[in-house]
Order: sequence, then structure tokens, then C-alpha cells
Amino acid sequence: MTTTVTNPGSRVDDAAGERLFNEIIARDSRIEPRDWMPADYRKSLTRQISQHAHSEIIGMQPEANWITRAPSLKRKAVLMAKVQDEAGHGLYLYSAAETLGTSRDRMTEDLIAGKARYSSIFNYPVLTWADIGAIGWLVDGAAICNQVPLCRASYGPYGRAMVRICKEESFHQRQGFEILLELANGTPEQRAMAQDAVDRWYAPSLMMFGPPDEESPNSQKSMEWNIKRFSNDELRSRFVGMMVEQIRVLGLELPDKDVRYNEETGRWEHGPLDWNEFREVLAGRGPCNAQRMERRREAHEEGAWVREAAAAYAAKQAAGRATAKVA
Ligand SMILES: [Fe+2]
Ligand SMILES: [Fe+2]
Repeated sequence: MTTTVTNPGSRVDDAAGERLFNEIIARDSRIEPRDWMPADYRKSLTRQISQHAHSEIIGMQPEANWITRAPSLKRKAVLMAKVQDEAGHGLYLYSAAETLGTSRDRMTEDLIAGKARYSSIFNYPVLTWADIGAIGWLVDGAAICNQVPLCRASYGPYGRAMVRICKEESFHQRQGFEILLELANGTPEQRAMAQDAVDRWYAPSLMMFGPPDEESPNSQKSMEWNIKRFSNDELRSRFVGMMVEQIRVLGLELPDKDVRYNEETGRWEHGPLDWNEFREVLAGRGPCNAQRMERRREAHEEGAWVREAAAAYAAKQAAGRATAKVA
């Protein structure tokens, strides 16, 4: 059978493994690293989790650029904590992906060689302080909508990583909302700055859920495997509903005249999105793609000595343990 492999840690043959895998999925229970799994399941999860990890790490860049320009000590401390959280998310996710058999080094190499993708949203420029508010509110907000259902993903290490990540994302969204709330209640200039940031980040954040359902061929399989629980359009609609409520509290406006609740479908609808722009950004031709990748490569090269030192330390520890055993 070409679509299956026998896992290194599994003692069952393909036929028994596949039966067990299907049973686990049918019971809505969890697949763990040593369980037998179809090769496509492993491949698809490795792609999804590593893309997610890359997004967390690349996503640190647009906000980290604003740490030195945060308008107060409190804002600086909050933003630093948030950016550090994102680094943590990247690390949990690389660890979760590694349990599927691909090393973190390999995933990083694929990213810096331009072979791996990350979320298109991080290729947009952060022009003002209000953008930090809009990113927290809209981008982290969209991430929460997407990720809460992933806490129940069938692959154990991924689902468990998402639980902690989602708790931290909620804090990120609150801090973004609070920045916008303060600006919206500030001077006319601050209010205009907040509205401008929301205007620019709204559509890209809606596109974070991925292409419309009819153009998302991988989604179906992912839903059958209990990785994804809701379709891209369903999640996007929920997100729009959340934003409609919250923008009222902010006293700002969503830059979308077509937002409405459809009683018949029970879904929130929104205006047209520019999917050509989405594809261009994803293909590496967005406003900041080159800058983000260059910075990631530089950081990787500058960090070479840390990796070497950590490897030397680990080797020394292992040698010490071996000597202790002999003694
Ligand atoms: Fe995150
Ligand atoms: Fe976040």
C-alpha cells in the first residue's frame, strides 16, 4: 500500500495499524507519536504544525520592531511579554512537529531556504503604534478563532500544545483591544490612527482563515481526520461576528459595508476579499516578504554560536553521565 508506512515505534503491521487508526479517529480519541498512522496524515500534520511554528517565529518580527518605540514603560513591558510568548509558541510547535519524525533543524532549513510557508499576515508593514493594537485585536483574535478548535485535534502533541497557546493568545487579544480602546478615546488624531490601523488590518486578518471552502482541497481530508473541526468559511464567519460586537465597544467602524447576519444560514457575511492579493503574498510577493526572510536568515546565522555551545554542553553532560555509570 503506497499511502501507509509502519511507524518506527509501532509493533503492528499496516493492516492492523490502519484498523486501529480508523477506530481511534471514529471514537474521536487521540493519536500519539508511537501509534501507527497513515503516511498522508503524518505528512499533512508535519506541514501544518511546522507552518504554524514558522508563523509564530516570523510573527515576532513586525511587533518586535515596535518594542523600542512603545509609548510607555507599561506598554513596552506588555509588548515584550507578548513577543516572548510567540517565541514560546514557536518552540512548543516545533517540538510537537518533531514527534512526527522531522527534526527542527530540517524545518528551519526549509524555512530559510524559502521552501516552507508561514502565515501571509506577517508580510504586511506595521506603520504606527495603533497597528500594534490592531494586530493584537484582529490577528491574535483570528488566531484564537482558528486555534481553539485545534485544542481537540486528533494528534495528541498538537492538541495539547494548543491549549496553552490559546490561553496566551487570549491575553494578546486583550492587550491589542486595550491599546485600540485607549487610542479610540484619545485625541482626534489618536482616534484616526486607530481607525486607520483597523482599516488596513481587517481584510488581511479575514484572509488568515485561508481560501474560501470551495478552493481549499486539503480541508476535507483534514476534517475527516479530526484535525480541523470547522471549515475556513465557518471560522471566518464566526470571527466577523465577534468583531462586530467588539468594534461597537471601541466606538470605531469595520471597513466593510457588507457585514450582515444571515438569519437563514446562521452565518455572518462579509464583503469581497482580494484573493489575488492573498495568493501574491503567499507566493512571496507581499510588501514585507523579502525583509522578513532576510531578517530570519540573519538571526539564524547570528545564532549559530548558541546552537554550537548548546550542542557542546549537551555532549559534555552526556559524557559525564557515561563516566558516572562506569564508575
Ligand atoms: Fe502565538
Ligand atoms: Fe499571539
